[in-house]
Parts: sequence; structure tokens; C-alpha cells
Amino acid sequence: MRNIVWIILLLGVARAQEYKFCAPVDTISNDACNALQRGESKVSCLRVADSAECAIRLAQGAADFGVFNAEELLLAYQFYPLDILPILQLRHKDRQEEEFEFQTVAVVPADLTQKVVSPGERLKLLKDGGLCHPGFSKSQWWNDYILKYFEKAVNRPHCQENVTVIENEIRSLRDFFGKACRPGEWSADSSIDEELKNKYPELCALCDNQAACSYNNKEKHGHFGALECLARRNGKVAYVALSYVREYLKTNATFQFLCPNGNILPLTSETPCAWLKQPWSVIAARK
Ligand SMILES: *[C@@H]1O[C@H](CO)[C@@H](O)[C@H](O)[C@H]1NC(C)=O
Ligand SMILES: *[C@@H]1O[C@H](CO)[C@@H](O)[C@H](O)[C@H]1NC(C)=O
Repeated sequence: MRNIVWIILLLGVARAQEYKFCAPVDTISNDACNALQRGESKVSCLRVADSAECAIRLAQGAADFGVFNAEELLLAYQFYPLDILPILQLRHKDRQEEEFEFQTVAVVPADLTQKVVSPGERLKLLKDGGLCHPGFSKSQWWNDYILKYFEKAVNRPHCQENVTVIENEIRSLRDFFGKACRPGEWSADSSIDEELKNKYPELCALCDNQAACSYNNKEKHGHFGALECLARRNGKVAYVALSYVREYLKTNATFQFLCPNGNILPLTSETPCAWLKQPWSVIAARK
């Protein structure tokens, strides 16, 4: 019996197909790609422009598997609902127990919420209170949607005539929060970015370096800077990743989580209220 199993296994190995892994060029170097195919490897590597091309290659059968984040997988599903399937979730090796790659939370000083108001009214207490934001940079997990989620949720920008979409967004922020530190590029066009920074300096007023619109502490993509901004009482709310709150503020009773429905929870809470929860990336394969 055992021998038969061995023979079947050996036949399996001898017949093993070569699997083609596709990866966007900005996620894998040529060397790393080549290294995958060395020796006895059953995997070859195909570098593609982006995850959209990877989805196309999978659907065509020109590649066998690839790594997709949640947004990329949702997009691929719109075009190829039957051709591509997620087969494995990729969790960080030190965070196997965590259900999400990250969660976004809002943290406020505990005394902000001592005034007795209904939860629905509580978000309004942030008006003119200052916002401590981690900032915009390309080298991070948080995309524009995630970075702007909190500020748009507490204060939906209303269209104003004669201003561009981006200026409308910035002006609404200034009108609601009063002041902020919101580092990084507000617009991909650097001349527009400079113009907006000159016109709305209030949104850099809570920064350590107001002229550069930046925190001194750039650790964790600005999240520590934003938490320092809150801890120094520059702003009444910081919108940051839950894991950095655990790391930086720990369970400091001076601060609380502010929930999307206006409720509050202590930092000791095991299940804090997140504004957004990002699922882990997956390996998706050709069907
Ligand atoms: C918009 O700009 C035009 C041209 O500059 C001006 O005539 C008009 O009054 C402006 N409208 C508002 C609402 O500011
Ligand atoms: C909590 O944070 C405040 C403000 O940063 C700080 O002064 C205080 O020492 C912290 N408390 C604890 C227990 O870490």
C-alpha cells in the first residue's frame, strides 16, 4: 500500500506543471522574479504592469496565480467573476490571529466627551477642534479613500461654486476642523498643491514644521506624528491605525476611541470601533 502511494506521489511530481506567478513590476524586482525560478522550482515568474494586467493574464491562462489586495480583487471580480478565485489569505507571520490587515480608528481626549450630549451630537464636538492626520504619501497601505474616510464621514463636503473639487474638499475641511496637520501631497499636481497650501495654511498649522507641513516624527508613515499632535492637545482628534494607537498610547485613560455612531470606548477595549477594516491580501488563482 505504502509503495503505491509513493509511486502515485512520484508520478505526480514528474508530471508537475510549471506554475506561473504574476506580479506587478513595482512589487517585485527582476532579480527576485528570476530567483523564483532557480533550481528545482516549479514556479516561474511573470512581471506585469499592475494588478489589472495580472487579472487579465490569469483570465487568459497566461499566468496561474498572483497576489491581490482587497481593492484589486474586487476590481478583478467585476471583470472576471468566474475565472479568478481567491485560494489563500496572506496574514503577516507575527499577526496570524488578527482578522484584518489594519483598522482605522479615531482617538479623542477623554475630557472632550465629558459634556453630556447624545452620541449623534458628539461628532459635532469636533467642530473647530483641530485634526491630527497621518498625511498623504505613496509609500503606504492607506489609499486616498481610506485617508479621507474619516474627514468625509464627519463632515460631508458640500459643493461650492467656482472652486475645483480638490479645493472644495480642502475648504470644507478648514471650515469644519478649523485647524489641522495634514501632511503630504493634497494634489498630485505640485503647483496646485503649493497653491492650496498657501491658501489654506490652517490645515498645516498644527504641524511641527508648518512651512513644510510635516511632523518631526515621521515614524509609521506619520501615524506617530499624528498621535503626538493629539497627545500635545494640538488637535482634538487623531485619525490613525489601531495598531499604532496600541503601540503609542497603549491604554492611556486620557484618551478614548470615538466611534462612527458617536459612541465612545476606552483604549482598553478589546474590540474597538473601527471606521474602516481592511481585509488581508490574498493569493488568487486561475480557476
Ligand atoms: C464665479 O466666477 C464668475 C467669473 O469669475 C463670476 O462671474 C461669478 O459671479 C462667480 N460665482 C460665484 C457664485 O462666486
Ligand atoms: C497619557 O498621555 C498623557 C498625554 O500625552 C501623558 O501626559 C500621560 O503621562 C499619559 N499617561 C500614561 C499613564 O501614560
